[in-house]
This record gives sequence, C-alpha cells and structure tokens, in this order.
Amino acid sequence: MNNAPIRSNNESIQQKSASARGKVSRRGFLGGTAIGLAVASFPIASRAASPSEVVRVALLGAGSKGSQLASFFNKADGAKIVMVADPDITRAKKTADLYNAVGVKDLRMAIDSSDVDAVVIATCDHWHCLAAVWALEAGKDVYVEKPLGHNQWEGRQVVNGAKKYNRIVQLGTQQRSDPIQAEARKFLHEERGLGEIKYVQANRLGVRAPIGKRSTPLPFPKDVDRNLWFGPAEVKPMFRDQLHYDWHWDWNTGTGEMGNWGVHILDDVRNVAYQDQQSLPSKFTVGGGRVGWDDAGDTPNLHFAALETDSFPTMIALSNLATMPNGKENWRAVTGENWPADPPGSGYVIVCEGGFYLGQRSNGKAVDLDGKTIREFRSGTDIIEAHVVNFIDAVQSRDASMLNAPIENGHYSTGWCNLANVAFRAGGSFSEEQLVDGIDFEAWPKLIQTMTNQLAQYGEKVGSLRSCPTLAYDAKTECFVGDHAESANELGMHGYRDGFELRAVS
Ligand SMILES: NC(=O)c1ccc[n+]([C@@H]2O[C@H](COP(=O)([O-])OP(=O)(O)OC[C@H]3O[C@@H](n4cnc5c(N)ncnc54)[C@H](O)[C@@H]3O)[C@@H](O)[C@H]2O)c1
Repeated sequence: MNNAPIRSNNESIQQKSASARGKVSRRGFLGGTAIGLAVASFPIASRAASPSEVVRVALLGAGSKGSQLASFFNKADGAKIVMVADPDITRAKKTADLYNAVGVKDLRMAIDSSDVDAVVIATCDHWHCLAAVWALEAGKDVYVEKPLGHNQWEGRQVVNGAKKYNRIVQLGTQQRSDPIQAEARKFLHEERGLGEIKYVQANRLGVRAPIGKRSTPLPFPKDVDRNLWFGPAEVKPMFRDQLHYDWHWDWNTGTGEMGNWGVHILDDVRNVAYQDQQSLPSKFTVGGGRVGWDDAGDTPNLHFAALETDSFPTMIALSNLATMPNGKENWRAVTGENWPADPPGSGYVIVCEGGFYLGQRSNGKAVDLDGKTIREFRSGTDIIEAHVVNFIDAVQSRDASMLNAPIENGHYSTGWCNLANVAFRAGGSFSEEQLVDGIDFEAWPKLIQTMTNQLAQYGEKVGSLRSCPTLAYDAKTECFVGDHAESANELGMHGYRDGFELRAVS
C-alpha cells in the first residue's frame, strides 16, 4: 500500500537544491521558430535553475509515451531523469534502471522530493491535471502530455496554477515545435497563398480494433497499485482485455479518440488556420457512436462535429472503423468540390477560395483547385526532441514566453476536444434532418452524407447514432449557455475520489 502522505494544498513551495550534476550547453537549433507561437507570457520568479544547472526530471507514468519521453529528456543537454513513478512498479523500475534513477510507485514521492526540479506527466488522462497542480504547488515545472485535462474545469486549474506559482508548463503537443507550422501560417495568412479560408475539415481516420468484452472483471495485475492507478477516478471493475493503453476508451480514465488524436489535429488547426486567435468554439453540433463493435469501451469509435467560431467553421471526423467490416482500409471524408486526391487521414484540409492546404504531422502541401501542388512544406526536425529541448530551455531561462506550447494555449486546444466529448455525451437520439437543420454552412450536410455512406457498410444510419442539438458555448466564462446548457455543464465536471481531490486554484 501507499504510505506517502496525501498532499496538503497549502503546502509551501519547496526551496530548490542548487546542486548541478553537470555542465549544460543549451541548444539553440530551434532558432527563431517559436516567434509568434506563444500566447501566454507569465511573469516568472527567478528560482534556482540557471543555465549552468542540470534540470532534474521525474517521469510520472512509464508507459509507452513516458518511456519515449524519458529517453529524450535524458539525452537533452541540461536535463537528467532522476526518478520514475508508476503504480506499475515493474514499469517504473524498468525505466528508472535505464537512467540510474529511482523507481517508485507513488508520484507524490517525486513531487515531494527536493531532488526533483521538473516533472513529465505521461500518465493516463484522468491523472494529468491533479498531478500537474500538485507539482505546481510543490514548485516544480511541468511538461504534461496531451490532452491537458480530462475535463475543461481541471485544465483551467493548471493554467491558474502556472500563473500563481510562476512555473514553466508546456503541453506535449509536439507539432508546435515544428518550424513548418510557422511557414504554413505565413503562406496562408501573410502571403495569402490560397485566398480566403472558407472552412477546415479535420480528420482522424485510422482503423483500430475493439478492446474485448470479458464476462468477468479484468484481474488487476499484481504489480500495479490499484488505488494509485485509479487515483481521482472511480474505482470500478473493467471488462476489457488489458489494463494499459485501452483506458483511452473508457470515460472514467480516458477521453476517447477526440482527446487522443483529435487534440493534436485541432491544436494544429488552431495554430495554422486560426493563428491562435480562436480560443474555443462558440457552437458545437456533434454526433457519433460506438458502432460495429461489441466490446467494453464506451467512447465513440465514430465521432463527428461541427465547431463554429467567430470566423470560419471547423468540422472534424473521427473514425476507427475500416471502410467495411473486417477491412483494413481507412475511409475518407470528402466535404467539398474538386476535393484533393490525397487528403490526410490524420490531419486537416484548410479549404480556401483558391485551393486547399493539406496539413499533417511533419509535412504540408498547398494544392490549387485543379489539384496541382503549388507549395510543399517538409519538416527536417525531430519534433519530440525539439519540444523537449524547448521546454528545458524555457525552464533554465525562467522564460515561459519561449514555450512553443504554453499551457493556456494547450488548455484551449484540449477544450475543443473535451467539449466535443461533452456534446456527444449530452446527446441522445436525434434525427438526421435535425442534425443538418441546425447548421447553415454547406459542407456539413456533405460530411453527414459521407458518414451515412460509411455507416451503410455496417447496417447503421446516422440517425441511429447519438447526437446533440447545437450547444452554445461562452468562451469567457467557459460554460455552455442557452438550451441544454445545464446538463452539458454538469457533464463537463467530474467527481474526484477522497484523497485525490483537485481543489480550485485561484
Ligand atoms: N504527444 C504524443 O504524441 C503522445 C503519444 C502517445 C501518448 N500520449 C499521451 O501520453 C499519455 C500516456 O499514454 P501511453 O500511451 O503511454 O499510455 P500507457 O497506458 O502505456 O501508459 C500510462 C502509464 O501511466 C501509468 N500511471 C497510471 N496512474 C499513474 C500514477 N498515479 N502515477 C504514475 N503513473 C501512472 C500507468 O500505469 C501506465 O504505465 C496519455 O495521456 C497519452 O494521451 C501522447
């Protein structure tokens, strides 16, 4: 059992040890690529870490992403992995051993340690914000994986905590450290390379498999501390086949494909198409379902949304289904005339008067209305390495304005996903006509038609899915407003288990 004390929220910020473990030569290979990317510039207290100090990093969550991040952090100049925490103690020790670090099962041991300057949070989604707020209260800097939060309220507490405790906090949306995003922005907005933007079609069309449906609860692996693994979430039996990774598809611990891949793509869209000028959408019209699978997951494997803003709208289509049952091929979402031949399955199409910008991780392409490529954007950057180095540079400089993915921006990108999830969960049965009636831009019925064609292969209709009437959202108060707002706002909050409460940070 865990014997570590439960943290008290009024704990004073720890003094940092000034002991450095090696000499640092800060890398500058990102050069000026961060220019214009940061939205938040917080006043930062000067604290112990200086450019001559090594930042001592604790990894919280030693799964597949955490293990990968540990290797990048450990090899970055100016950083060293000193502790690894995971309730799966086998995972914690295995990763810790690689770096001669300490492996523990309770992340509070890392957060409370005066030998740790910064934490990297790569736990399941339901732990991200609680771990981040605890770490901020303890005076640590934080690199937190996407999505920032399991709900929008808790993400705001992290943003408040970053300001209140003057910490450096970066979201793990690593495409922000890719110089091609700034190039694409320049091409689209300064050079007006394709003319006016009409709308954005974002896609995550990637086949996945069902996660099993056991008749008896999954036995909790003996090496994993169940109380710590669930943490703030409800402790309840699970009927899927494996504990790790597939928590993504259970609302208790995950945020579905919308919070998994959706957040990367919508973050890119906010950056490249909206130039970070659109914090959150003002209207959500959403549908979806868990279709064609009989498994223990409850997040949608098919999810589509119209996200309206003060300027042009974005639609997003997510599908984990193949073009036909038992197939392997990803389907495509076609929502315009002269549609490009190879739209990204995990990416976005910015539909403009004069053509299309096709964006995806590490590359982009502008094509004209005749399908001719007029400009290509290719990344020569290892974006995870660049993102990690950017964080370490900001920590050493005590300059949050250097961050490529500052936390308030990440909170908004996460919000597009969390709120689309709330809108799905707030929905019920709804006719296809009602779904189309609420929206006045012509691409939306085309997306619904694409979904209809897709679903026919599975003997389903859009009208048999779950959908919500259009929900209005007020970005200033971060609340749904108007019809159905009350139930949507309730769904946007979660309870926190005793001992794992997240208290408001103001
Ligand atoms: N930026 C990216 O491209 C990217 C890619 C993959 C995953 N991720 C994110 O990284 C996170 C982890 O994903 P994953 O694929 O590694 O999942 P995973 O299931 O392999 O790993 C999660 C780990 O967190 C551990 N954990 C649970 N509770 C914990 C606690 N209280 N303290 C410490 N560890 C705890 C689990 O035991 C597990 O080992 C997710 O939030 C995911 O969205 C980001």
